Amino acid sequence: MAKPEPVNQMKCTFPSCSVNEALARSVAASFAAQLNPTCEEVSDIKCAVSEAVTNAIVHGYRDSIGEIVMVLKLESDRTFTAEIRDRGVGIPNVEEAMRPLFTTDPENERSGMGFTIIENFMDSLRVVSSPGKGTRVIMKKKLSMLPLRK
Ligand SMILES: Nc1ncnc2c1ncn2[C@@H]1O[C@H](COP(=O)(O)OP(=O)(O)OP(=O)(O)O)[C@@H](O)[C@H]1O
Ligand SMILES: [Mg+2]
Repeated sequence: MAKPEPVNQMKCTFPSCSVNEALARSVAASFAAQLNPTCEEVSDIKCAVSEAVTNAIVHGYRDSIGEIVMVLKLESDRTFTAEIRDRGVGIPNVEEAMRPLFTTDPENERSGMGFTIIENFMDSLRVVSSPGKGTRVIMKKKLSMLPLRK
């Protein structure tokens, strides 16, 4: 089968203020709209993106404000990719952090389910992190076969 080609991509940068969680999910949903997704696919993408952006805000930068970069891509095989990057505290043990119910912040009523939600709503999730340097969360979802909007 032919290698998927890039169809469209965008990059946006915003400070880690909590209002920008809603902004990021709307931007991701608007960008994915050109693939004519189902309502369920849009809702899955919005939830997954907002979990990753919330993590960058509340864990990555904790009580400080830092820069979050979101890169969105579409490929010709109808794969949607979102990458959310922060240059915050980083994650010492990514495998442990990705386990269901693992949280370092139980006192703020966090349930430790963010990464599990992303894994369930998307087809793949990759987390790359180094303590003191930051975190990259890369998620992909192949959308159903509806005609592409030109
Ligand atoms: N961007 C990040 N920077 C630093 N640590 C992170 C980041 N994202 C996740 N983590 C760490 O991974 C843990 C698990 O994240 P996850 O989203 O699964 O759960 P949570 O955020 O603790 O709870 P919930 O998402 O259910 O509110 C977090 O508690 C935190 O320690
Ligand atoms: Mg979370």
